Amino acid sequence: MQNTPQTRDSALRYGSITRTLHWLMAVVFVWQFTSAAAHLLAEDSPLDEFMWSTHKTSGFLLMVLIVLRVLWALANTGRRPPSVSALARLGHACLYLLMIAVPLVALIRQFGSGRAFSPFGIPLMPGFEGDKIEWMTDLRSNFHSLLGWLLLALIIGHIVAAFWHHLAGDKNVMRRIIGTPRH
Ligand code: HEM
Ligand code: HEM
Repeated sequence: MQNTPQTRDSALRYGSITRTLHWLMAVVFVWQFTSAAAHLLAEDSPLDEFMWSTHKTSGFLLMVLIVLRVLWALANTGRRPPSVSALARLGHACLYLLMIAVPLVALIRQFGSGRAFSPFGIPLMPGFEGDKIEWMTDLRSNFHSLLGWLLLALIIGHIVAAFWHHLAGDKNVMRRIIGTPRH
């Protein structure tokens, strides 16, 4: 019974929807940070020009996915595998906060600028004439970047912690997000 497909989470492992959101977002984050790094380190290179043209759109996709992920986490309150430690719980909470804050700050700034924004052709922000909305654009210009790099540092710490648990013998930590727990 243990390995029958299950959509919702349980004390033993994360269900298929949590796992899909986790790994799908991990892939989009690789893309997102590649575009940010190319912009910072290789401005105007062909890599930067190609990747940067996708930054706002894939950032918007991450925003949609994190909203779905938060709603799904709330729907699974009390059903998830127990945290391995208080630090792990705190780390996951910080990841959630930053996954929301980083794209949200960028989208607020984008709206306040008055420039149109149509990710995937969806007319999300039609733009407007006249003055910018200053409190929105005043969100310190490098606030988004700073929080973005902080999120990357936390993700790296998260990945190191996951492998550390795995190599230290607590194999179930990795298995429950892959979907193959043993007990
Ligand atoms: C989770 C999603 C996102 C992540 C992780 C992320 C990450 C980053 C990072 C690390 C930088 C700094 C690059 C550098 O140092 O040169 C950056 C810059 C930037 N990002 Fe994002 N980003 C996300 C979503 C968005 C969205 C949704 C938008 C716009 C709608 C956006 C617009 C920008 C812009 C315009 C910059 C240029 C620097 C600035 O004005 O702050 N990003 N992003
Ligand atoms: C190679 C990449 C990654 C590996 C190996 C990995 C590994 C893991 C493992 C083993 C767990 C289960 C931990 C537990 O139950 O205590 C987990 C959960 C989690 N991971 Fe990752 N992870 C990766 C990428 C990411 C990324 C990019 C993010 C987001 C920024 C992320 C955010 C989370 C969160 C928030 C949880 C808690 C479960 C949830 O609410 O989805 N992970 N990860």
